[in-house]
Amino acid sequence: MTTRVFSGARPTGRQHIGNYAGAIQNYVKLQAEYDCIYCIADVHALTTLEDTSKLPENIYELALDWLAAGIDPEKSIFFVQSHVPEVLELHTYLSTVTPLSWLLRVPTFKEKVKIQPHNVNYGLVGYPVLMTADIILYKAEVVPVGEDQLPHLELTREIVRRFNSVFSPTFPEPEAKLTTFPLIVGLDGKEKMSKQLGNDIEIALSPEETIARVMTATTDPARRYRNDPGHPEVCNIYRLHHYFNPGQTNTIAEQCHTAKIGCVECKRLLAEKINAMLALFRERRAALATKPKYVADVLTEGAERARVIARKTLGEVKLKMKLI
Ligand code: TRP
Ligand code: SF4
Repeated sequence: MTTRVFSGARPTGRQHIGNYAGAIQNYVKLQAEYDCIYCIADVHALTTLEDTSKLPENIYELALDWLAAGIDPEKSIFFVQSHVPEVLELHTYLSTVTPLSWLLRVPTFKEKVKIQPHNVNYGLVGYPVLMTADIILYKAEVVPVGEDQLPHLELTREIVRRFNSVFSPTFPEPEAKLTTFPLIVGLDGKEKMSKQLGNDIEIALSPEETIARVMTATTDPARRYRNDPGHPEVCNIYRLHHYFNPGQTNTIAEQCHTAKIGCVECKRLLAEKINAMLALFRERRAALATKPKYVADVLTEGAERARVIARKTLGEVKLKMKLI
């Protein structure tokens, strides 16, 4: 049997080029080799949302982004988490074999307590248990994630080990598969590209909007005038050229050092390369956006296929836990 891959993302709005270059392209590639299941984790999103009014729109936007990028519903199962309610049942069973102390020491939980002290909800504590349920409901063995998710995956493995030892071997211990792509830094040149930090470039922008956005980026602070020699090694635009314009990085470094190229020109070049790389994606996204019914059908069908597997696993779990 082909190895199964599972991954998910919270629908927090439109994706940015960091998501695209990292996670999304990785998901697309994995489809060639693995049996993939990709999930829009709307229940996870609820743990950080106080206002849920944008949730349907965000789910739809994420679905468009993933489908346009090449998630192929013929090859993979693509669905919305809450459409497979079996995951919530498994989550509850797993919560009884998960010591609270394990959950309270998860770094992302501690971080969220700091970010939203007024909303330290019960779901936030159980976040990694729900993630575990997501993964093991399909007995997935490989989980492509970013580095920030590693503590969650470690916990998943601990919960799996505990379940298997208490109730006999049932689930494989899933392994994280880190995206090979280096971290994409935001336009501020300081932090990881993130929607929340407002330093991102959305993939669905128009070419003109992309140019305008790139123009706002910080570059080498020592380069105050056009004739000042630059230091590409400290410049974030240069870093982005590595990914979007790999053939010209040496030339740009040389031209920057000798002030032959100015930052505005260099940014324009980068924006053009980003636009070229995303042209096909944007075309497909615009075409999909005219077919909301098709997108909804893909997700419905995905959930139906996922539920077949989910029900089977849940039956097995209930049997082992002596619930049936
Ligand atoms: N927690 C993940 C994130 O914030 C999203 C996610 C939900 C996930 N369920 C998952 C990732 C299962 C991998 C496997 O990005
Ligand atoms: Fe950065 Fe390009 Fe300006 Fe050099 S020319 S500092 S690489 S933006």
